[in-house]
Amino acid sequence: MKLKSIFLFVALSFTVTASAADRKLFDNHWLFALQDSVTMSSPNFNDNAWRRLSLPHDWSIEGDFQATNPSGATGGALPGGIAWYRKHFDVPSYDRNKHYFIDFDGVYMNASVYLNGHLLGTRPYGFISYRYELTPYLKAKDNVMAVRVDNSEQPNCRWYSGSGIYRHVYLVTTNALHVAHWGTFVRATTDGKVCAEIKIDNQGSRSETVTVRNTVLNSAQKVVSTVLRKLTVNPNKPAVFEENMLVDKTELWSIESPYRYVLRTEIVQGGGVLDRYDTPFGFRSFHFDAQTGFWLNGKNLKINGVCNHHDLGCLGAAVHRDAIYRQLRLLKDMGCNAIRCSHNPPAPELLELCDSMGFIVMDESFDMWHRKKTKYDYSHYFDQWFERDLSDLVKRDRNHPSIMIWSIGNEVLEQWNSADADQLSPEEANLILNAGHAITPNSTDDGKMNVNSQLTKRLVDIIKQLDPTRPVTAGCNEPSPENLLFKSNALDLIGYNYHIKNIKDVPKNFPGKPFIMTESVSALQTRGFYMMPSDSVYKAPEEWWLPYSNPTFMCSAYDNMHASWSSTHESTWNVVKNNHFVSGQFVWTGWDYLGEPTPYGFPARSSYFGIIDLAGFPKDIYYMYQSEWTQKPVLHLFPHWNWLPGQQIDMWCYFNHADAVELFVNGKSQGLKQKEPNEFHVKWRVNYEPGSVKVVAYEHGKAVREEEIHTAGAPDHIRLTVEHGICKPGGLAFVEAEVVDKDGRRCPWAEHQLYFETEGNGEIVGVDNGCQTSMERFKDTKRKAFFGRCMVVVKMNTHEGKVQLKARGIDLKSDTVLLESKK
Ligand code: GAL
Repeated sequence: MKLKSIFLFVALSFTVTASAADRKLFDNHWLFALQDSVTMSSPNFNDNAWRRLSLPHDWSIEGDFQATNPSGATGGALPGGIAWYRKHFDVPSYDRNKHYFIDFDGVYMNASVYLNGHLLGTRPYGFISYRYELTPYLKAKDNVMAVRVDNSEQPNCRWYSGSGIYRHVYLVTTNALHVAHWGTFVRATTDGKVCAEIKIDNQGSRSETVTVRNTVLNSAQKVVSTVLRKLTVNPNKPAVFEENMLVDKTELWSIESPYRYVLRTEIVQGGGVLDRYDTPFGFRSFHFDAQTGFWLNGKNLKINGVCNHHDLGCLGAAVHRDAIYRQLRLLKDMGCNAIRCSHNPPAPELLELCDSMGFIVMDESFDMWHRKKTKYDYSHYFDQWFERDLSDLVKRDRNHPSIMIWSIGNEVLEQWNSADADQLSPEEANLILNAGHAITPNSTDDGKMNVNSQLTKRLVDIIKQLDPTRPVTAGCNEPSPENLLFKSNALDLIGYNYHIKNIKDVPKNFPGKPFIMTESVSALQTRGFYMMPSDSVYKAPEEWWLPYSNPTFMCSAYDNMHASWSSTHESTWNVVKNNHFVSGQFVWTGWDYLGEPTPYGFPARSSYFGIIDLAGFPKDIYYMYQSEWTQKPVLHLFPHWNWLPGQQIDMWCYFNHADAVELFVNGKSQGLKQKEPNEFHVKWRVNYEPGSVKVVAYEHGKAVREEEIHTAGAPDHIRLTVEHGICKPGGLAFVEAEVVDKDGRRCPWAEHQLYFETEGNGEIVGVDNGCQTSMERFKDTKRKAFFGRCMVVVKMNTHEGKVQLKARGIDLKSDTVLLESKK
């Protein structure tokens, strides 16, 4: 290989030729049938009557909730099954010298892909991204791609998985010489050094000598560094090399200013560009310290994170960038600065958004290794696939500046010598897994490392080989240093879930090791529902082996209810905030998700853990975090003011930037309150009388802010509010529908059925109200209000235009809004 590097610090103009690599969405014009037959892989199969749709698509979310669905309430009580997708397509500028690939971002699960009757491969893991080469079987015209998706063996997940091709698909065209799939690894340091490892494939039949031009572009697309290298690439033997570059006056990537650069890698031959490959990256430095926690760009900060599952509420698992953006935007406004992708590889869009919005990410690979948690889960495939799946995850994701932690697993049963969940139902597994296991003496402790510790080390080694720059952790639920994962000594960062009482012992038990709460809190709340007295803490269940029931199937939205293994939001934050060595936490969870409706069973079918409900309405605790995690002025008084006269009501207030707050009921003071150190709310117990309740915040004796809640009168009309203005063609508009009285005050007990209709350039793609037990379908044009409100999601057509959305309800005046999409 002839190597020659030239540094150029001048702007170059790019030669963009038609031969540059090409990556196009392959989402449209698919056919779908929820049926199974071996003949469906054949190009000649008659699919005339099949349903037409565009990807991403999740067929489970279109179904009805049923206790008998094999996913169980833990899996969201929605149907699974086996389905096929088929697509007939031509390749307009087909060129026999080119190479063609198909990229799947994620298919749940067990997907077998056929092109023109040839099986390209089967990938069991439903959360992993992969590529197949199409070239040998592809024709210019009349191709048929067929994908069999098998999500029939359930339960296979401890939460809602969704079913189908639920992430994007791309058709990639390259020349024989091209940058390999996930073929770059960029390491960038705050002094402007860029070290790029690049892999180039030559799928042609002869050696080729080319110039590889690497260019760094800043966010204004201006070239800030370029290097050229002459290179000979032999056929079928990838060329791998390292390129070192320097960028002057770098802008750092940070949470407040997530500045990104792009490394553009071009393969140039005879004046033409054979391939162009862009790798976005960022300059930042970070480390975890055993005494002082987390540091980003030389600044000490707490990781104020949340765990999230992948579903998007009423849209199911089907990825839409706008829905992920909405989740992150609400979290960012709350002051959240980190996301744990629990417990599986996330959608690429999530990582791209975390990069561009400024979130720290903990990227997690698995929820189980060999030992199963549910009957048909990934443990069946682990031995055969872990190496490939873990490597693919790291190769796909390692350039994202947002990712700062890799996790090799969540609460895997290999932490202990003997711990099996084989005989458990998923409901039992979700409870029992949290209960802990006896640490048994290490029977094979004859100087050799225990097999589970060896496996831990093996997984860490796989990551380190592909990315030595980030720490590896695991979300453990055994806090003892005897935990076989910890005993491997391979984890850089000690991570465990819950066990708040053990945290004080971390420095003693793990001397010199940094620590993070990989998962915390698991408080239980239903938006709008309050259990009094609010100063009693309700554990649900009291102990993990006890049943819990409550005829309301709701949980209290004061921060006074949590699972037996967990703790309230405030008590957890107190520990995280006041222990310098704790790098931070990932609260379980940012958003409610489908499945795992602890502490209830069916008809509960979605979680109570979220800070934000499934429809996207913040629960009250959102404002506790906002008051602690941001500098925005916060004054949040709750609950509402519609009770029985004389009823004793606990009024809570979250606030900041004030030294005292005073409550008034119909103008009468109920006393001035201050937060004691390490208290995060104040409370008054008052007798309800119709009228108003008001809180006034004072700073140095001066009233600076107030919030007043009025008793709402009889339901009078519907109010529609669009969450944010104009969206892009193909984008989503989220519209809140409230039942309000004649003065526009939300009626907190209203449960009216609301009916929606659209006219124009878009359609309703989902409805929700955040109620964990609602059996109404998500794909519908009607929804009941839940504590006075619900949500409708409209998808705009792919061309610009307007949609009129109308909401009607019996005995309510209707409302209409105009939605608009613009490029
Ligand atoms: C954890 C587990 C999560 C979720 C949570 C509920 O132990 O890692 O996946 O089940 O409990 O509290």
